[in-house]
Amino acid sequence: FGLPRTLNEPMRNYEPKSSDRAGLQAAVDSMLASAPFDVPLIINGQAVQSGKTAQQLNPSNHSQALCRYQEADANLTRKAIDGALAAKKDWEAMPFADRAAIFLKAADLIAGKYRFPLMAATMLGQGKNVWQAEIDAAAETCDFLRFGVKFVDELYKVQPSEHAKGMYNRMEYRALEGFIFAISPFNFTAIAANLVGVPTLVGNVAVWKPSPMAIYSNYLIYKIFEEAGMPPGVIQFVPGPAEEIATAAIEHKFFAGLHFTGSTHVFRHLWKQIASNMDKYTGYPRIVGETGGKNFHLVHPSADVDTAVHQAVRGAFEYQGQKCSALSRLYVPQSLWSKPGGFKEKLLASLQSISQGPVEDFKHFMGPVIAKHSFDKIISLIEAAKKDGGKIIAGGTGDDSKGFYVKPTVIETTDPRSVTMINEIFGPVVTIYAYPDNEFEETCHLIDTTTEYALTGSIFAQDRSAVVKATNLLRNSSGMFYINGKCTGAVVGQQPFGGARASGTNDKAGSMQVFLRFVSARTISESF
Ligand code: ALA
Repeated sequence: FGLPRTLNEPMRNYEPKSSDRAGLQAAVDSMLASAPFDVPLIINGQAVQSGKTAQQLNPSNHSQALCRYQEADANLTRKAIDGALAAKKDWEAMPFADRAAIFLKAADLIAGKYRFPLMAATMLGQGKNVWQAEIDAAAETCDFLRFGVKFVDELYKVQPSEHAKGMYNRMEYRALEGFIFAISPFNFTAIAANLVGVPTLVGNVAVWKPSPMAIYSNYLIYKIFEEAGMPPGVIQFVPGPAEEIATAAIEHKFFAGLHFTGSTHVFRHLWKQIASNMDKYTGYPRIVGETGGKNFHLVHPSADVDTAVHQAVRGAFEYQGQKCSALSRLYVPQSLWSKPGGFKEKLLASLQSISQGPVEDFKHFMGPVIAKHSFDKIISLIEAAKKDGGKIIAGGTGDDSKGFYVKPTVIETTDPRSVTMINEIFGPVVTIYAYPDNEFEETCHLIDTTTEYALTGSIFAQDRSAVVKATNLLRNSSGMFYINGKCTGAVVGQQPFGGARASGTNDKAGSMQVFLRFVSARTISESF
């Protein structure tokens, strides 16, 4: 069937005095005035009160609970699984055009009626400033839903091209037999929507454990799907204790797949748990995960320094470095780094103009990090870097008295294998190693071998031969490789997103590839 033309959702700029700003401000104000908002579990389309509650705090002001939510346990998870399996029959039998219509309508609801509430929940709950919330909750969420429909439409058209005489061959892209367990992270509302959206669009049912730090926005995503026509039970919303919910899901006979974004450590743990339950399952579960990163920018002596500095600041400090793709290790040639008016001076000067504060002020480039445990981990890694010979040349401190604020931090090291060159931090910290100008190839080798991750990376160079060299030498060092651009900000439909090695299964969100993981094709060959 013909689809509406698929375009990236246009971004809005929320200028002061604009109607968009006024609308968003009103949504933020009303959310703050009415907090805490009560969020139930949703099983079979029904709000369920488990009686066990937890809170999602506002990271800009942690004395304020943004919502109070019900927590599932193992029994409720099993009930959600049973309900999902019951809903599956009708859902997978529904013509694709009708499933697609639900997704396209959900995207329109997000682009229009619910844009501001969804952004407000993402700003206040996940500590995103207005522009980061626009990129994520508004634009990328719509893009995942709309482009998803296009990718699946294209996938279904992939059919055998040859038919012997008297024969008709075809492929039927069935949903997996069982249910998909989706575990979503706090850092992107869009990723959460996509983790349940991808499997369900191709006819699966999903049991969804959202992050405790993104409950409000994720609940709104659920409600938007519901308003768009998603039948009860197709998506089950079960926040709560991760280990207990995951164990109930993974031990189930009809566990058919995991769609995960989160830490490498947790993903490995789940993978082992799945392996140890393998004999119970009806099929081999599909395991799809996006995990950690230790992302790099490599600057060549021929680079345009202003561009490289600007992109480094954005890559490292937008959303407080809490994108899995965020820049975390920076390799600059010694000649560019230390010369008067060079990289270091320009970087430090541009940090002067960075403002940080509560997201509801609508004016700061940086907000808080997500929670106390993140704040503590980031500060302790900064301390570890100091002990490991790192020199803090900007930031290095935090203040968690009201919100969880960590200053944009730059650590200079002479040891490219020091603690913050290797470990994922997930905060606004970048470590810079100034490499000898004549060691470009060695530095590529260093980048390739110092961490276990391979998510995103960039080369900054004007010299084409350096671009070619880096592209080859860093072939396995990232799933996303940018030339003269920052290592964050992949756009659905433009840069399919995913990493390899310890960074994930590299099934490329925002492309047809990830949908292939959630279908089980049947070849039908008919003779006449
Ligand atoms: N897709 C997000 C980015 O590229 C994580 O920054």
